[in-house]
Amino acid sequence: MRFTADQLAGMLLESGARPGPLHRRLSEGLRELIDLGEIPPESVLPSERALANALSLSRTTVVAAYHTLRQEDRLERRQGSGTRVTGSGRPGHRETVSSRALVGDHAGAQFLHGPLPTMDFSTAALPCLDLVPEVAAGLTRAEYDILTAGYHGYQPRGLPALRERLAAAYSQHGVPTTADQILITSGAQQALELITHGCLQPGDSVVTEAPTYRGALEAFRLANCRIRSVPCDDNGMDVERVEDLLTERPPRLIYVQSTVHNPTGMVLADGRRCRLARLAERHQIIVVDDTALAGTLIEGSPPTPLAGLSTSERILTIGSMSKLFWSGLRLGWIRGTAQVVSRLAQMKGMTDLGTSLVSQQIAIHLLDRLPDAQATRRRELAEGLAALTGLLGEHLPDWTWRTPRGGASLWVRIPTDSVTNFAHFAVRFGVAILPGTAFSPDSVTDDHTRLPYALPRTAMVAGVQRLARAWDGYAEGHRAIPTVAVTT
Ligand SMILES: Cc1ncc(COP(=O)(O)O)c(C=O)c1O
Repeated sequence: MRFTADQLAGMLLESGARPGPLHRRLSEGLRELIDLGEIPPESVLPSERALANALSLSRTTVVAAYHTLRQEDRLERRQGSGTRVTGSGRPGHRETVSSRALVGDHAGAQFLHGPLPTMDFSTAALPCLDLVPEVAAGLTRAEYDILTAGYHGYQPRGLPALRERLAAAYSQHGVPTTADQILITSGAQQALELITHGCLQPGDSVVTEAPTYRGALEAFRLANCRIRSVPCDDNGMDVERVEDLLTERPPRLIYVQSTVHNPTGMVLADGRRCRLARLAERHQIIVVDDTALAGTLIEGSPPTPLAGLSTSERILTIGSMSKLFWSGLRLGWIRGTAQVVSRLAQMKGMTDLGTSLVSQQIAIHLLDRLPDAQATRRRELAEGLAALTGLLGEHLPDWTWRTPRGGASLWVRIPTDSVTNFAHFAVRFGVAILPGTAFSPDSVTDDHTRLPYALPRTAMVAGVQRLARAWDGYAEGHRAIPTVAVTT
């Protein structure tokens, strides 16, 4: 396996900040990635010069770090083929199952390896609502008795009561739905994976927005699909561009987040919704409408999902309990035709035999408290958004953004060619951000980053202050490495 300098830089960036001289921080970061198996044995590393450029470091620093790892027998230099990771068999080495998936994007690293030793602005996960432990603690013995007596525990389609509940919610919302059109999944992420494996073949073409949800990009990439992207603006996906792509070469699937988009927080405008729904109908293309964030709309009620605007049987709607309630429930769903849902349910059965019935029972009670949950989430998000935009206005006045309509993150434009380079720089100031390229299939968004606002206020203030210090140093071209005080 051959790593480019940018891939390696991205992996190092997400593995977090460290104290000490730079060459030591670099050798420690590389050592950790090698020992975790994320840089597997025999991998070829980029040249010292390329890595130095990607990390905004001097070449001498990279030379020193590679030298240390060669002395430890973790790296070797082979004539004509550059620097390689030595073969396996070293004590402490273990291959992680996820290493293949993480290369080049490294999306799950922080979730796999625990909290980062730095202020983590690279994730925009939402905190659990207080309502969740309250409702979970209220589950009665009688309910458990009914659950355990009535079901052996393997229910690939999900609890009938929850499926009926969700079907009724769709029907009320203008999308007539029956329980057999709902498949409960272990989060919206599993919904995406099932759809990817059930509907796509290697080489199929998929159209997404740029930027978009990186978990979707990963699923499509792992399935070896070709991803083409269209831009999105204040009104969501540019459906006119989708139409152009359809006349060039129709894709097999369009992935869109119509109702609160991650990372921009936008909502697809009514006119574009209708147009996209009609396109799906006319071209018989699978449209995946990922509405996982719909419950985080800060004002107003969510518009009708695309499935309610079209007679196409190829529109699959994804939902989730993660954003409104808690991602730890690991509960999502797919709404589609009964036939498609049956097929996906078979695959779900082969994957994990079903989602936790206890989580589903909790979900039924949580849905009873939907208005409370929405009011709390809206208030928290509106406050967080006001706080973050206030801090950015004060400390980073040349950074710009469009006000999101929901979600938990601001999509921020930074006046530089390469947020990737700035992100490497910022980590030395004790704050990890993700460059916009992580959210785009074709690296077109390297002048953006995603900043979370569902954060405790002290962490938000400290993080923005660190970013402002980093930006001062970076923007003035002070590439020399400061001695960092990460004590805010
Ligand atoms: C757009 C989108 N879809 C799906 C998911 C996955 O959510 P879940 O926690 O339900 O798997 C996320 C999580 O961030 C998301 O932002």
